[in-house]
Parts: sequence; structure tokens; C-alpha cells
Amino acid sequence: MCGIVGYIGNKSADSVLLVGLERLEYRGYDSAGIGIIEDGEMTIRKREGKLKALNDLLREMPVSGNIGIAHTRWATHGEPTTHNAHPHTDSQKKFALVHNGIIENYAELKEELIKEGYIFQSETDTEVIVHLLSKHYKDNFEQAVIKVINLLEGSFALAIISEYHPDTLIGARRGSPLIVGKGKGENFLASDIHALVNLTKTVYYLEDNEIAVLKRERLSFFNNTGKSIKKEEKHITIEAKAIDKAGHEHFMLKEIMEQPRIISNIIEKRIRDNKIHFSHIPMGNEYLVRVGRIIIQAAGTSWHAGLVGKFMIEEFARVHTEVDISSEFRYRNPVIEGDTLMIAISQSGETADTIAGLREAKSKFIKVLGLVNNKESTIARESDAVIDILAGPEIGVASTKAYIAQIISLFLWALYIARIKWSLKKETVEQYIQELKDLPDKIEQILKQKDKIEKLAKKYAAKNNFIFLGRSYNYPTAFEGALKLKEISYIHSTAYQAGEFKHGPIALIDATVPVICIVTKGEIYPKMLSNIQEVKSRKGIIITIATEGDESIKKLSDDVIYVPQTIDILSPVVNVIPLQLLAYYIAIQRGADVDQPRNLAKSVTVE
Ligand code: AGP
Repeated sequence: MCGIVGYIGNKSADSVLLVGLERLEYRGYDSAGIGIIEDGEMTIRKREGKLKALNDLLREMPVSGNIGIAHTRWATHGEPTTHNAHPHTDSQKKFALVHNGIIENYAELKEELIKEGYIFQSETDTEVIVHLLSKHYKDNFEQAVIKVINLLEGSFALAIISEYHPDTLIGARRGSPLIVGKGKGENFLASDIHALVNLTKTVYYLEDNEIAVLKRERLSFFNNTGKSIKKEEKHITIEAKAIDKAGHEHFMLKEIMEQPRIISNIIEKRIRDNKIHFSHIPMGNEYLVRVGRIIIQAAGTSWHAGLVGKFMIEEFARVHTEVDISSEFRYRNPVIEGDTLMIAISQSGETADTIAGLREAKSKFIKVLGLVNNKESTIARESDAVIDILAGPEIGVASTKAYIAQIISLFLWALYIARIKWSLKKETVEQYIQELKDLPDKIEQILKQKDKIEKLAKKYAAKNNFIFLGRSYNYPTAFEGALKLKEISYIHSTAYQAGEFKHGPIALIDATVPVICIVTKGEIYPKMLSNIQEVKSRKGIIITIATEGDESIKKLSDDVIYVPQTIDILSPVVNVIPLQLLAYYIAIQRGADVDQPRNLAKSVTVE
């Protein structure tokens, strides 16, 4: 989704805004712009394309001032063109604003405004807001903003400046995240904490229907009735080094290579004296032992983690678990009893569909456990309890380390529930913990094969269709492998439960189609061999992910990537690593922008 930055202070606003946009570019990058009040005059610079295009424009046409707003866009309404780029201004250029979200009633508002003679410059939904501001402004800036946001339906995070008030920056939020940063003689707005790292350690998270009025020396907050409110001060813990590439060519590769350390970190934080610790999470054991049904809801990669989590929770804790795609959950009018627990999984904690599913669950009075990578996110704040997956900031749009951190957090949580429900013996849990402790080294061994996998990528990079097959714990791995490949290389790739493949999709097989089969040793190994035979007999190209030492698989494979043996239920963590690397290197071969793939954004904050 879009990135928003605002600044008021004594520094040159353009430099602060551009650094902030760089930190947010992964949120959306099809156009960018800044608005600055320069010597009392509203000055706008914006351009289609990535942030580099805006930087080039500012070199040609510099702008200076101490108050400004900036935006990097992921288009929802209106093509990614310069005139649709933000900031948007009213016709007299007295107001300028940037927006993240969707104004659902923009069409009727726009029709009314056009009838009243307002002239629109763009096809965006956002532009209605700035004309409404111009229409309702009666000398009081914040009152005009409050009046206007009450006319809007849908979601928004706004940063607004006005020539009439060159000493005031206003932020407003509903449904899309917006953070206020407090400095000395300066204050900031940002849609994401990453833009504020190095600028301040003190922040305030706006809730829905709240506005913030930022002056150089003063912050004030109001709700949408105009009532002054107090906000709790929070402190940023992310270090700047956590959001740079650490010498890697891409964030995605850095984050893939970090995975052993992330697992070790989770183990260190969650396991002490061979016992799993989740007791700090405010969801008492007396409640947890009574949970009779779990609904996991998530999107994309987080949904795949939920599919793996279902196996773990049902196998260890013996609690019926179902997994929904967030955008579907909220429309299926689920049958929910009092002993149902929802687990909302979201790396960003800001996915609009998952937030909507969470709110649907809470409207039916069931508790929600948030599994997030951002403890200050909307999902974290609206959940009854939160598990931080401890993956650290994930910048690459394609999720990697967060995925395995989600799975391992679910693994540990399922074992924790099993212990408090006595559904697993202490010794059994300790064996599982030992298997987990062996994972970092096993993943290191796979990462050492990255050059071999890069070579394989070169061999198959020109293919235009891939199929991924897996069974049991690893059909979600197949789904995740297909998603990684398609979202960063733009190759059409689909995944199937291998047993389902012969019920139609096998018609897709011919000698041009690489089929990536996850066939590591375990209970379903023989069945997977049969599925591979079915593909081979139809001349499909077979690439297998197999267990070290399995020589026989070579007879069936055009290429094999070996991974260390682990227990079945943890094999999704091991087996996804080569698929992440394969997708990464194929995308590189195809010249795709790995960290900022076309049409995507890191956090989908619109429905
Ligand atoms: C994963 O690589 C994708 N970027 C995407 O599917 C992502 O997992 C999905 O949008 C959910 O995001 P979340 O985990 O932040 O909710």
C-alpha cells in the first residue's frame, strides 16, 4: 500500500521526506510526490515511476521549506500516472494532502462537488478529500479536517498541509495505519515505523477516527467529534541497521540468509530449561484448555503458514482447527460457538482483509490471538492477545523469514497448548524441542547450496509455467513455493495437493512444464513417488526437493535439490528454503525487481 511521510520543523523538509519515502518505498512504488510550503506558497513535485524519478525531478526543480508531506503510491483508483500521483491539491492550491486507503463513497462525493463547480485534475478517489477541505474550510484547519473525515466512508491515513496554516501539519486515520513521531522542535507523520527510525524514538499510534495536529513545538490529538484526547507515548525499538541490506544485493536475499538466526532467536526467547514460555500472553491457561475450536484466518503467505499451523495444532493440541483466507472468512457467516478462538496471522499486522476478519470475529464475541511481526500494528492492538513472531523487520515484498517464524511460532504454541492440556507427554515435547533446535544448522546447510540453486535457476528461468506439488504437511509448502515464484518473477506458477493433481490438473503436463515435487522422506513418501511417476510418464520435467542420501529419487528427477532430514511436521520449514532461493534467482535471471515486484506492495491495507 502507499507510503506517507509528513514533516514540520526547522530542517529542510525535502531531505527528511525523501529519506522517509526511501524507507517506505517497499509499501508501494508506482509514483511518488512531495508537497512543501515554500515561502508561504504551496509547491508540489510529483512523478510517475519509482522514487528515483522524483529525485531526478527535484534535482532539476529543487524546492525548500520546513513543512511538507510526501507519498509513494500503490495505485487503487486511477492509473499510476503523474497526474494521479499524490499530493493532491484543491484548485487554488491552498490545501495539499496525501492518502493511503480507499474512499468508498468517493463517486457520489465527486459528482456532488462537480455539480458545485469543483474542477478535478485526477481519476483518484483521494482528490475528493482536498476539494471537500476547500469547501468546508472556515478559518479553522482542524475543524475543517474533522468535518470532512466525517463525510468519508472507507479507509484513510491522511497527511495534510495548508497555505493558510504554514505552521500546522495534520494527520487523520481510519483503517490505514498512521504514526506521529515526536522530535525536538520538529514532529513527523508516517504510515510505517520504518520511516521514523533514526528520526525519533518517541511515537504515538493513531487509532481509527483520530486526528493529530502537529506544530513544531506541540502535538495535540482529537477524535472525530472534535474532543481533545490524550495518547499514550510509545518507544521505537527497531534499529536502523535492521532495515538495511547488510551488504546483500536485495532485502529478500538478506532475509532468506537471516532465517537460521531468526529461528535461534525464537528458541532463545520462547524456550527456557526445555520448557516453552507463552504465559506472558494475556490469555490464561484456564481459558486456553477450554478452547474447543480454532479458526485461523490470514492472507497470502500468512495463510500458507496457517495451513501448516492446522496440522500442528490438531496433531499436538487435539483441537479442531480450520483455516480461512481472510477476504473470504468475513463473508461466510461462520458458525461460531463460545469456545472458538480465532488466530489472525499477519506479518505486517495491517492487512485490511485480516483486520476485517478479526473485527467480524470480535463482533461475535470470540477471542482473537494475533500472530504478528509488528507488536504495534492494528491487528496487535485489536487482538485479545498477541504472539510476536520475532522475525525482525521484513522489507522484501516477498515474505520469507516471517513465514518460517510464523510456522515455528505456531509449532511452539501448539506444543505449549499440548502441555497445558496434557495431550502430549513432557518427554515427547522435549523431543520436538530438540528437533527444533537442530533446524538452524540444517537450514545453514541448505543456504550453502545457494550457488547450485542459482545454477538451476539459470537452467529453468526461461520457462513460462511451473507446477508445484506437495502432500500433507508440504502441500502448503508447494503453495508457498508457487507464490514466491509468481510474485517476484511474474512466471505463471500453480500448486496442487499432489493427490489431487490426477483429478484434472495433470492435463497441464507436457515436456515443457517443470514440476517441482516436494518428496522428502516421511509418511507420504511412497505416495509422492507415485505422483511423480504419473508426471514422468507424461514427459513432465521433474525437479525434486528430496532428503539427503536418497539416491533412488535421481532416477525420477531431471534435477534434485537435497535437504537434511528432519521430522515430518517441521519439514515445511526446511523444504521451503530451496524454493525461496529458486524463486529469488529465477527472478534475478529474468531481470525482475526482486524487492519491489510490479503491481505489489508489502502490506495490503485496502480490501
Ligand atoms: C507474501 O510473499 C506476499 N507478499 C503476500 O501474500 C503477503 O503474505 C500477504 O499480503 C499477507 O500479508 P501479511 O502477512 O502482512 O498479512
